[in-house]
Amino acid sequence: MIRAGVDMHIPTGCRTTHAVGVRMVHRQVLVTGAMGRVAAQLLPGLRERGEPRLLDHAGGPGDHDGPPVLVGELTDRRVLDEALDGVDAVIHLAGNPDPAAPWQELREPNIEGFAELLAASRDHGVRRVVFASSVHAMGAYEGWGRRPIDAAWPPAPCCSYGATKAFDEALARAYDYRTGMSLIGLRMGLCTPQASPAEAVTGWLRPADLQRMVIGALDAEVKFGVYHAVSWPSRRRWDIEATMRELGYEPQRGDDSQYPPEPADGSLSTCRGPAQDAPASATGAS
Ligand SMILES: NC(=O)c1ccc[n+]([C@@H]2O[C@H](COP(=O)([O-])OP(=O)(O)OC[C@H]3O[C@@H](n4cnc5c(N)ncnc54)[C@H](O)[C@@H]3O)[C@@H](O)[C@H]2O)c1
Repeated sequence: MIRAGVDMHIPTGCRTTHAVGVRMVHRQVLVTGAMGRVAAQLLPGLRERGEPRLLDHAGGPGDHDGPPVLVGELTDRRVLDEALDGVDAVIHLAGNPDPAAPWQELREPNIEGFAELLAASRDHGVRRVVFASSVHAMGAYEGWGRRPIDAAWPPAPCCSYGATKAFDEALARAYDYRTGMSLIGLRMGLCTPQASPAEAVTGWLRPADLQRMVIGALDAEVKFGVYHAVSWPSRRRWDIEATMRELGYEPQRGDDSQYPPEPADGSLSTCRGPAQDAPASATGAS
């Protein structure tokens, strides 16, 4: 087990969203889900700051440069003990990213895996966990036509997948309350190098912005926070004012004229959840 570093002071039990007051310096970063699509877009930028440790339950050489991936399950404590030894920051990407997945396929990777990771991170003295949430944790606001969606509103998932992300945000909040750990959730939009105009409007995170966002979250003077993580064309739907102010996020800006205007009826939805999860009415409670 390692002790919390001396280059940052976090008041235990602090309840505010930004109370650190000292910029964090990380010596060893662990990336979970390192064989996944988001990791492939993140790692080239992250490596400029030093080589992270990598964990994934998928084996194989992968397409990443750098050291081999530690292969194992998030729910295996021995794997986590090895992965977290000497680590002071975690970027957590492992999970099931499919909004159409049924609950049975989401529960272990998205709920139990995250719970095990947080418990082990606490025990190993990890100081900051940056974790992948999703715009689906707030997706019901889309159907209700409420936008721009404020990150400070209560979670309102549009599907079971979004509900797992909302749970993760709540569990992270409990760790913030009960421990000295700092936890930052990023409600990512679709992570892809190229997006159609409609995707760019509904919720898109391009690789360069993903890298800037995660590095900002690693360094930010924030004890706890959950932020919308989208690129500039998506800002009318997902308010990124707090992301820019508190994480120092500087999205790549550009000409908006190539993108369609926001439809007034909420018809451009991020969520492609399964039919049985569809809301009975898109104009329900608000
Ligand atoms: N891809 C997107 O557009 C997008 C958008 C918003 C949020 N996210 C979130 O970002 C994260 C990464 O998404 P992705 O698209 O890279 O997914 P992915 O499926 O491409 O990668 C996830 C990786 O996690 C690993 N993994 C899954 N369960 C694991 C477990 N129990 N133990 C160890 N490793 C495990 C998988 O092997 C895989 O390599 C997910 O949490 C997802 O919900 C993704």
